[in-house]
Order: sequence, then C-alpha cells, then structure tokens
Amino acid sequence: SLRVLTGIKPTGVPHLGNYVGAIRPAVAASAAPGVESFFFLADYHALISTQDPQRVQRSTLEIAASWLACGLDPERVAFYRQSDVPETTELTWLLSCVAGKGLLNRAHAYKAAVDRNRAEGADDDAGITAGLYMYPVLMAADILLFNAHRVPVGRDQVQHIEMARDFAQRFNHLYGEHFTLPEAAIEEQVATLPGLDGRKMSKSYDNVIPLFAPREQLRRLVFSIVTDSRVPGEPKDVEGSPLFQLYQAFASADETAAMRAAYADGIGWGEAKERLFERIDTELAPLRGRYDALVADPAAIERVLRAGGERLRDEQARPLLARLREAVGLRDLG
Ligand code: TYM
Repeated sequence: SLRVLTGIKPTGVPHLGNYVGAIRPAVAASAAPGVESFFFLADYHALISTQDPQRVQRSTLEIAASWLACGLDPERVAFYRQSDVPETTELTWLLSCVAGKGLLNRAHAYKAAVDRNRAEGADDDAGITAGLYMYPVLMAADILLFNAHRVPVGRDQVQHIEMARDFAQRFNHLYGEHFTLPEAAIEEQVATLPGLDGRKMSKSYDNVIPLFAPREQLRRLVFSIVTDSRVPGEPKDVEGSPLFQLYQAFASADETAAMRAAYADGIGWGEAKERLFERIDTELAPLRGRYDALVADPAAIERVLRAGGERLRDEQARPLLARLREAVGLRDLG
C-alpha cells in the first residue's frame, strides 16, 4: 500500500495555508483505497521556534482539533504526536551521522537566519540554535521512521524532503536497503498560499487567516487583504494578485475561470473580496461547529493522540529501531 505522511508544527493557531497546503490534500488522500496515512503534530520541531510551553500545548490542541474537524478518521489513519514516538529522536541521531553538514548549511531556514544576521552586521550564527540547524534531520526521521512514500506539503517544505531522500540514500548505501525514498506531493495551484500582505501566509509574518476564524472575523480579514489602487471597471491582473490566488485555492476550475474573466472585465476589489469570503465560508462553515466542540474537550483529544502514538511505537518504531541498531553495529542480535 501507498504510505502518505505529513506533519504540522504546533507553534500557533492553524491557518488557511496549513489547510490548503497540508490538511485538505492529506485528508483527501487518506480516503483513497490502498492508502495508509500518518498525520502528526511536530511538537519536537515546535520547540525550535517557541519556548513558550503554554503556546505549544494550546496549539497542539487546536491543530489536533483542526485535523479531526476536517475529516481525519483516527480509526483509519495513524494520528499522533511526534514526541509520543521518541524513537524519532534516536533515528535523528543515526541519520545525523550520515547527513552532510554542507547540505545542512544550504537549508533555506538556516540560510535565511544567517542572512538576517549578516544584514544586521552580527556574527553569522548569532542566536541560531543547533536545533534550527538540525531541523531537516529531525524531519527526515519523521518521514523515514514510517517509510513514507508520499509527503503532501506546501512548496516551502520541498527542500526538506529532498534532504530526507539524500540521507536515506546514504544510509541505505552504507547499511543496506532500510528506507524508502520519499517524494513531496504538492498541489500546484496552492503551492504557496499568500497571506493578508501578499507574502507567504505564515505565523512568522503575522499575516494569517485562522482556519476556524468566526464568520465575522473571516470577513474582516478577507477585506483587509492588500490590493492595488485600480477602481471598479478597470481590468485587473490575476497574476500576482493574492486575492485571486486565495480564490483559486478554494474554487473549482469553472469558478476560477469565471473569476479570471471577471478580473479582465474590471470587477471591483470589494466585490472580489465578497466572493472570496463567501467561497471560503461555504467550505469551512460546516466544519466550524465540529472544531469548536473538539477544542472544548482536551481530554478526549489527548486520549486519541496517546492511543495513536502508542500503537505506532509498538508496531513500527521500536521494531525498526531494533533492526537499525543491529545494522549499524550497536547491537548484535545473533
Ligand atoms: P508548518 O507547521 O510550517 O506547516 C505545516 C504545513 O502547512 C504548509 N503551509 C503552507 N502551504 C501553502 N501555503 C502556505 N502559506 C503555507 N504555510 C504552511 C507547509 O508547507 C506544511 O506542509 N517542517 C514542517 C512540519 C513537519 C513535517 C514533517 C511535514 C515536521 N516533520 C514531516 C511533513 C513531513 C513545518 O514546519 O510545517
């Protein structure tokens, strides 16, 4: 069977970028016959960007509730918290011993942090933790631990998956065929969803639309999306329009074609925003009530996550690590 795996970092409120980049395609893929799915909360990863324990806990609850509200069925899908499968960290170490340091130097998140330091005239590595540097190795461990074939993600994660392939290949070359080589699965029309200011929607840019914002807040946020100064009647470009890209991520091909024509005909920005708001709300309104009920019952979510993690640990993670320890020479099971 085809194994599909993806994770989200619990560092803040889940947003539309997480939904269209990961949650929606992953839940859709998990419903197909012959697919085995692994969806998880990357809480070890969260510690790289936040040192606020309450925030991690709250976000874990909200993101878990989001997955469930969006249709994840924990009976069919392995649904868990990364830290409930601590074999992840042991595998991270085994992989770090075959991972090229030069490759990690080129990771986007690390390079961006170095560039920021240089722009400010600080030392290259000022304020950068070893955790940030090791981010791609931890992520490779997530993927390789369950031998995932396919990883649905937004465009920003592709480099990490290519690195996971690289580490897997080296490990296999040295120690035998233990790992499947994973591939990223990207939805082309939503590869990078823009936020309110037109940059990538991201917690770190403070430009997000929360996935389960109440209707009124959703409307207010949609109306705050940047547009240019063209007035109604003037033709508008779809290219580079965050409003259009957001619409496309929620609309059918026919609706998108109609909106493209409306832009060429000079639809006013207010009208375009109203249509975008209605489109998003139509998709999310039915899920909002479920989300609210789930978030109100943290103990139930905790039980679901624990059960998911324990099962994976016993059935897959422990046996795999036992084999790997033997393969690299840490144990002789003979
Ligand atoms: P994270 O938590 O930053 O984002 C979770 C998922 O949401 C996608 N995403 C977006 N997609 C489109 N447009 C956007 N504006 C947007 N913002 C976020 C991300 O691409 C991602 O798919 N490193 C991962 C978490 C992770 C992981 C893994 C993923 C840890 N281990 C193993 C897959 C497999 C991350 O930081 O995602």
